[in-house]
Amino acid sequence: MKITTCVFDAYGTLFDVAAAARQAAAEPGREALAAKWPELAATWRLKQLQYSWLRAAAGTHGDFWSVTQDGLDYALEAHGLAEPSLRERLLALYWELSAYPEVPAMLAALKGAGFATAILSNGSPAMLAGAVESAGIGDRLDAVLSVESVGIFKPAPAVYGLVGRRFGCPAGAVLFVSSNGWDAAAASGYGFRTVWVNRAKEPMDRLPWRPERVLSDLTSIPELAQAGL
Ligand code: LAC
Repeated sequence: MKITTCVFDAYGTLFDVAAAARQAAAEPGREALAAKWPELAATWRLKQLQYSWLRAAAGTHGDFWSVTQDGLDYALEAHGLAEPSLRERLLALYWELSAYPEVPAMLAALKGAGFATAILSNGSPAMLAGAVESAGIGDRLDAVLSVESVGIFKPAPAVYGLVGRRFGCPAGAVLFVSSNGWDAAAASGYGFRTVWVNRAKEPMDRLPWRPERVLSDLTSIPELAQAGL
């Protein structure tokens, strides 16, 4: 089946989730953070995701902004960095994360080749609007789909179902791209064609499904989509 629709995870896939801690660490007076920002960023991300899965499992949804704050509070305490002005700065930077360098041209190439493009993310609509605007990629996306319209986080199948609802296409016509191995794997299980962008060279998640392709960045996505993977 021909691919018609290219859908991207947001955080870690199009937007660099480590950028907030990295940028804050470079600011004057942030020596304590400068010494351990990569560890802080990793714990923040891990806890943010764990809290999303735990809330989904417990049937207690709260939006991604709330789990992002909860994850940050845990990480700041775990790394001995709990301090209100740092917390506030990191959260402000999270609203304007930079996109990875290849993202604007890659999306433009997909649009130029006639593909529909979208984000499908755990992010709340307001968070996603902030990130899309600061990255300047709004004109290259046909839709920004948030889990908030179904009230449960990935990898619940209802989330992947938002793509078919919006574009009216079968799952097999969708190329889904995520930097989260578990997200790409679960999307394969749903029936999407999938790419895992494994920038960090992480091991494959041991789940009942596997991503179809593994890449180290997004550059070749337009070529793969046109070739049908
Ligand atoms: C998202 C997270 C999982 O954007 O990265 O959905």
